[in-house]
Amino acid sequence: MKAYVLNEAGPVENMILSEIKKPSIQANDVLVKTKAISINPVDVKVRPDEAALSMILGTEERPVILGWDISGVVTEVGEAVRDFNVGDKVFGMVNFVGHGKAYAEYVAAPADQLAVIPAGISFEDAAATTLAALTALQVLTGRVNSGDRVLIHAGSGGVGHYAIQIAKRMGATVITTSSSKNREFCLSLGADEHIDYRAQKFEEILTDIDFVLDGMGGDILENSIKVVKSGGKIVSLPTHTFEAGLQATADAAGVALEFVMVQSNGENMNTLAGMLKAGTLKPHVSVTFPFEKLQEAHLQIESGRTVGKAIVTV
Ligand SMILES: NC(=O)c1ccc[n+]([C@@H]2O[C@H](COP(=O)([O-])OP(=O)(O)OC[C@H]3O[C@@H](n4cnc5c(N)ncnc54)[C@H](OP(=O)(O)O)[C@@H]3O)[C@@H](O)[C@H]2O)c1
Repeated sequence: MKAYVLNEAGPVENMILSEIKKPSIQANDVLVKTKAISINPVDVKVRPDEAALSMILGTEERPVILGWDISGVVTEVGEAVRDFNVGDKVFGMVNFVGHGKAYAEYVAAPADQLAVIPAGISFEDAAATTLAALTALQVLTGRVNSGDRVLIHAGSGGVGHYAIQIAKRMGATVITTSSSKNREFCLSLGADEHIDYRAQKFEEILTDIDFVLDGMGGDILENSIKVVKSGGKIVSLPTHTFEAGLQATADAAGVALEFVMVQSNGENMNTLAGMLKAGTLKPHVSVTFPFEKLQEAHLQIESGRTVGKAIVTV
């Protein structure tokens, strides 16, 4: 089969399209013939950084195969698998945190990390509704209540465009940020209010926020503390440790700061499948690349300007 092999961390050219052996499956796995793959900022952040690569993939062995988000068709079923059959169309985020090996024509995936793609949903839309959608679902569930005022930074991005829709469905009032060119897109997803971060400072406009989803870190995280009410919460996605001064400011304001790392989860994938089927969650794929141009998909995500999701078709 063909797969992108990374022998050492580095630029996109280090991901080399190679002919390698098809993976074999364990008792609880299925083998998926990949139809579409989604690319995330984490793929792009670990690719050039050996330490980050080893940490996220959980191995210092090289070569590795990057990627976690897939949709495709089941071609083999492990002997202990009961929920899937050969020919099923499936989607999921495979082995995150860990070595997903998704940039390949075949992926061995634990069956309990996948869901069946609902009828009428394309492989592209299914592949889009994986890591970014799981992140939004896992972060918002149990942290956001009906009636909350929720601030979602980067509402036009992969995580943000799902988070707006899920938070609205939970009964929250949603305020979101992006540049002005993505204002209408954010509002079309259900956001109640949009702030163009290039023209306005959200920290001078907003007060009494119950919950912030921060996909940006840095000053945006620091300024977010100012707009949250005492007893409120901030989940930061890029920042896994908070420096002492920032933590002290949050503590003094009565604001809980938390880092959340998304986890592979088949039950959550089934929840997303249910939302796709009901039409209550709509993925937005703004750009697709053929498998041969996967390197360009990395550059697209690296730009920081992607609207919704970037997908690679296999
Ligand atoms: N901890 C975890 O488990 C986890 C999971 C998923 C993602 N993440 C992290 O969360 C972050 C977001 O991920 P993503 O997939 O949503 O990224 P993404 O799709 O690449 O985000 C791109 C979007 O960000 C917007 N944006 C850029 N700068 C902005 C700013 N200063 N203020 C507001 N919006 C801005 C852009 O809109 P404009 O072009 O209009 O600026 C663009 O639409 C990344 O750092 C990622 O690594 C972490």
